[in-house]
Amino acid sequence: MIKKISPAQSLRGSITPPSDKSISQRAAIFSLLHEGSSVIKNYSEAEDPQSTLSCIEQLGAKVDRWGDKLQITGTGRNGIQRPYEDLDCGNSGTAMRLLSGVLAGSGVQAKLCGDESLSNRTMKRIIEPLESMGAHILARNSEFAPLMVSRNEPLRAIDYTLPIPSAQLKSCILLAGLFGKEPTRVVETVPSRDHTERILGLKQQKIEGETYIYSSLDDEIPAQNYTVPGDFSAASFWIVAGSVIPGSEILIRNVGLNPSRTALLNILRRMGANIEIGNQRTEGSEPVGDLVIRSASLTGTRIEQDIIPNCIDELPILSVAMLFAKGESIIMGAGELRHKETDRLMAIGEMLDSASATYQEYEEGIIIKGSPDHKYRSGLFKGFSDHRIIMASAILALKANKESHVMDYEKAAVSYPGFFEDLASLSVAGS
Ligand code: S3P
Repeated sequence: MIKKISPAQSLRGSITPPSDKSISQRAAIFSLLHEGSSVIKNYSEAEDPQSTLSCIEQLGAKVDRWGDKLQITGTGRNGIQRPYEDLDCGNSGTAMRLLSGVLAGSGVQAKLCGDESLSNRTMKRIIEPLESMGAHILARNSEFAPLMVSRNEPLRAIDYTLPIPSAQLKSCILLAGLFGKEPTRVVETVPSRDHTERILGLKQQKIEGETYIYSSLDDEIPAQNYTVPGDFSAASFWIVAGSVIPGSEILIRNVGLNPSRTALLNILRRMGANIEIGNQRTEGSEPVGDLVIRSASLTGTRIEQDIIPNCIDELPILSVAMLFAKGESIIMGAGELRHKETDRLMAIGEMLDSASATYQEYEEGIIIKGSPDHKYRSGLFKGFSDHRIIMASAILALKANKESHVMDYEKAAVSYPGFFEDLASLSVAGS
């Protein structure tokens, strides 16, 4: 489906972003592993977390909904049930990778499937280490979903250095490790989002820039009684939009501010953005605050490989900020973008093309020539059925001279069901 987007003169008002997708999905999976009742407030209504919720129900969790609260009665590690049907992870890489870890660890046999996008994303990164722990995984072309996960031999703890900085891979191995008598150790050389280790309170050591994280049967899995904060990645669309659209002022309430997610704030501040953080507090084990964004003149910047995992989901919208920043901006070491819901480096390039931008795409990055006065008439944005490309395109469309069109707009609901309503409520139309 196609959405028409009119140019905005400014964005003004306040919004509350949807609940964090990564934390919601973990809260559901950890509730399954906790034997007994958990109450999660503000669980995300977005499609990915809802897919995860259906999967844990099929694995034996009981889910009751009361208003904005979910009560989940988990099976505990020993009670997970073999599902009657395939576990449908929809569009969600987090669901497929984290649940594979749970299945490999528990030895419960199940088949995981997903939509077309997820079925074309490599699962090799989890298959190899899980097989070294004793799991057996049948995959299409040895690499792609559907995945049939089982284990006929004893679970082996492993000592695993992450070859790519991926929180999904890290969490997958740690979840499998939770079922082992001996501790599994994951070594992280480049930090990625740390919700799994924070929420589960896993043992960690930091030695000479590396983090060692351990999991085993000895780790207790606490009841998940907390309120899920707002999703920083969803808020990032308004942080950039408020910065690049003149005359804007946006209050964004209740935003998760876990430092392993918020590199975009430092990058934008370095570019000259005007971002105020207030009302800082803690929800569960996660920092939260409110943000006020006011428009500002931005200057180009360079994003290096070591912070890419801390802004991986924000790179599409950061490239919009770069287009309206003075001078050249560079994103380097971001080859992982090619393995997301779509090849996001290609999709960012196509999005910039639709706005008549000058850029150069590389295998692992992109150089964007920006200007605060960049003008274009109107764009037809392809969207690529990828929620983050669709939302970044919609923000870019606000800067056109005339009405633009964004394709596949309904897929924004993968992480942000109310995105277009929030956009309409903040937009002050051009004259
Ligand atoms: C996620 C980790 C990231 C991120 C994804 C959610 C998670 O993926 O892009 O949207 O919840 O752990 P990778 O771990 O593959 O980088």
